[in-house]
Amino acid sequence: MTTAASPHTMNTYGRLPVAMSHGQGLRVWDTDGKCYLDALAGIAVNTLGHGHPKLVPALQDQVAKMIHCCNYYHVPDQEKLAAKLVEKSGLTNVFFCSTGLEANEAAIKLARKFGHDKGIESPVIVVYEKSFHGRSIATLSATGNEKIQKGFGPLVEGFLRVPLNDIDALKKATEGNPNVVAVFFETIQGEGGINPTRWDYLRQVRELCDQRDWLMMIDEVQCGMGRTGKWFAHQWAGIVPDVMPLAKGLGSGVPIGAVVAGPKAANIFQVGNHGGTFGGNPLAMRAGVETIRIMEKDGLLENAAKVGAHLRAGLEKALGGLPGVKEIRGQGLMVGVELNMPCGVLTNRCAEAGLLISVTADSVVRLVPPLIMTEAEANEVLAILVPQIQTFLAEQA
Ligand SMILES: Cc1ncc(COP(=O)(O)O)c(C=O)c1O
Repeated sequence: MTTAASPHTMNTYGRLPVAMSHGQGLRVWDTDGKCYLDALAGIAVNTLGHGHPKLVPALQDQVAKMIHCCNYYHVPDQEKLAAKLVEKSGLTNVFFCSTGLEANEAAIKLARKFGHDKGIESPVIVVYEKSFHGRSIATLSATGNEKIQKGFGPLVEGFLRVPLNDIDALKKATEGNPNVVAVFFETIQGEGGINPTRWDYLRQVRELCDQRDWLMMIDEVQCGMGRTGKWFAHQWAGIVPDVMPLAKGLGSGVPIGAVVAGPKAANIFQVGNHGGTFGGNPLAMRAGVETIRIMEKDGLLENAAKVGAHLRAGLEKALGGLPGVKEIRGQGLMVGVELNMPCGVLTNRCAEAGLLISVTADSVVRLVPPLIMTEAEANEVLAILVPQIQTFLAEQA
């Protein structure tokens, strides 16, 4: 159940009847003083949870020094953060922006200019069924969800859609098409229902991109930044993309986006080709630098892998094989429980029971908690979530 629209903000969100006040670690409190366990992290954003004792003083220091100055000048922390992202990804150069859709817009522009630089006048980017890349006109055109596109036509042209994990379909759809310049997908589709791209498929696409001189562009906005137990989810397959948009968890809550590019794409943009007022501002850059520093120091990749496995094992034990439970899947702290019926009501019921989650693709309970979650906190999540799902399934039976 959601509340009525508020009088002065646009009616773009179906909100729960709750207003959040503050948080600490895995817990947040609403304005009535009720406490919730946060297994959503502001949709895979609050990497370090809330009020992190090392992040907060760093951000306070930065706010006092400088929040914004614009890209007419060098921003020292841009270089620092770019160097870290280059080190972690094996890529070479970074463009900074402020959101996931902006990172994807930049990737789309890179792919198009990559084509134009080769003399391709109408470049085509391969995109996927059930994908989500954002809600600007170009990124919603790339997105594989008609509900998100409805009412906003005409869509941007130059996208060719294929099903995920089917290399023959990709080969067939692109056969004899000289205009294809890039393949663009998420390693694990988030909004589409926690749908992993198979590792062998990632390797096959890498090979095809090399053979055909296409850019391999992997949207790691939701599944990246340590969430799966590697810095970037595609690293489980041992491949390196050419272009990788990031956002969400990179700033642990401070708006930030980035496109990381390898040698094939790093020099496509020249001065004047792309930019933005807020991108790479000192506050966002400090948030990124400190987030990665704390993740390294506190071993949060290992934690995400370990606690994620614990959480999934707990879900399997309690729910695996139950009638109505289709599949429990994911990697690290990106976990989905797919039911065989729409279950959006669980978002509200779990919140009432003191747990923040979301339901995505109508029937997939999504858990994307802060990467600082402990096994004890995972047990607390299970203690609330499992009975909620069991009760829901019993009602539907
Ligand atoms: C994979 C992916 N790409 C892009 C976006 C868009 O990011 P933003 O909401 O910051 O524009 C999202 C948001 O959910 C996402 O999950």
